Formats: sequence, C-alpha cells, structure tokens
Amino acid sequence: MTLVRGRSQRRATDGGPVLRAAGLSRVYGRGESLVRAVDGVDLDVPAGQTLAVTGPSGCGKSTLLQLLGGLDRPTGGQVWLGGRRIDHLGERALAGLRRRAIGFVFQDFHLMDELSAAENVELPALLAGASPRTARTRAAGILDRVGLAGRARHLPSELSGGQRQRVAIARALVNEPLVVLADEPTGNLDSAATHDILRLFDELRAAGQTLVVVTHDERVAATADRVVSLRDGALVDDTRLGTGFGDTTPLGALLSWEG
Ligand SMILES: Nc1ncnc2c1ncn2[C@@H]1O[C@H](COP(=O)(O)OP(=O)(O)O)[C@@H](O)[C@H]1O
Ligand SMILES: [Mg+2]
Repeated sequence: MTLVRGRSQRRATDGGPVLRAAGLSRVYGRGESLVRAVDGVDLDVPAGQTLAVTGPSGCGKSTLLQLLGGLDRPTGGQVWLGGRRIDHLGERALAGLRRRAIGFVFQDFHLMDELSAAENVELPALLAGASPRTARTRAAGILDRVGLAGRARHLPSELSGGQRQRVAIARALVNEPLVVLADEPTGNLDSAATHDILRLFDELRAAGQTLVVVTHDERVAATADRVVSLRDGALVDDTRLGTGFGDTTPLGALLSWEG
C-alpha cells in the first residue's frame, strides 16, 4: 500500500504541468465595493512539485486555491488540471472531477462528525464508485500510513486536532488525486501536531504527490520545493527552494554527513 501512485500522475499529464492557471482572476462585488481577490495569476505546477502559497491575510490565497480546485469559478482566465481545461466545465462534471482528481484539506478539517475516521476516508471512495469492500481496504491502508490504524473506529470528537487533520489528509488521498490542495492545514494545530503533518507532507513529496499548500506558517513554507507569494491577488515572488522536507534540509544533510 503506497500513499500515492506517481506513475499514473505522469501518464495523465504527458509531462506537462499537473495544474495550470493562465491569467486567472476572481472579482467580487462591483462599483465601489469591487475586490480583485485574484488578479491575473499565471502559474504552472509540475507533477510532483510541492508548492507553498504565502502572503498576508486577505491577499487572495484561499480564493486562488478554490479556483484551482474547481470550488469557485473565475471571472477571467483559465484553469487546467491534468492537461484538461476545467474552469468552464458544468457543475456535474466539475463535482465529479473534484471527487476523483483533487484532494482538499482545510484548516478546520471538514470531517463528518457522525462518521468514524474510517468512514470519513471511505466516503469519497464510495462516491467515486468504489465497492464497499474496496473502499474499506483502501481507507484502512491509508489510515495505517498516516499512523491512525488504531483510531479507525473513533469519531472525530474522540480525536485530537492533529489526528483529525491526518484523517482529513487520508480522505484527500483515498482516490489517488492528481493534486492535493491544502488551505492553512496547520492553522489550528499546536507545534507537535504541525510537525506530524509536515512529516506526512514529506512522505507525500517523496512519493511524488503534487501538493499546493496555502500557509501563514514559515515552517510549512520552508519545507516546500517552491514558494510563491501573493499580494492583492497577484503573484509577487516565485522562489524555488530546492531543499524539500526533513532530511534534505541543509541541517539534515549536515547531520547525516556527520553521522
Ligand atoms: N465571498 C466573498 N465576497 C466578497 N469578497 C470576498 C469574498 N471572499 C473573499 N473576499 C475578499 O477577497 C479577498 C481575498 O480573500 P481570501 O482569498 O479569503 O484571502 P486569504 O485566504 O489570503 O486570507 C479579501 O479582500 C476578501 O475580503
Ligand atoms: Mg484564507
């Protein structure tokens, strides 16, 4: 059981970017109350890249993520996922695409309170057409990988914040999405739980999972392959860190060299 399958991702995109925004814009309101929440963003996210999106509160991070994930419609520009234009799809096609090809992770988890951890993870697999047996097997495998095999029958209310977010990440992965989109995934977590989530993202990165993480947290941004900054809805900086998570940071490299 692997967390993700990189090979199928590469096939789906033929070497092009997994995710692409072209001239992407989202305007709210009109007249004096007009807000350019996202303002002409061009962005290519290659397969396997971990991208952090940073910037001050209100700069358009969540709006951008929702446009990229087909949760909101742009007022201008295009969104491409897996080589296919998605911004003009009908609501049903878009819902199906979100279910099968995109894994969402939110700051406040968005788990179903009355379902167990396992049932929360199984649900998107069932909705995507997996048999109950397949959904159960997949969910059990992924919960094991996120370190929650022993908590599968627990309700969200019986789990810590960090454990809930790991369930949410397991749920995001269950249909082997082309891309995982996370909006402030550590925003409600203490530093120990944040560390667990970063370790998990590290595993995803090693497995070739394309990941876009919106974050205020410098620790989270510092672990990405690439960091882009937004100001007033526009990209103002694009930095390739080339360090990655955990053991490939300069400190980790030094320690392993010494060891
Ligand atoms: N539904 C909405 N209606 C009107 N304005 C909105 C709406 N959602 C967000 N905005 C505005 O768009 C801008 C970007 O918001 P958002 O994407 O939530 O920023 P961030 O996630 O970076 O904090 C803000 O000025 C916000 O007030
Ligand atoms: Mg936000």
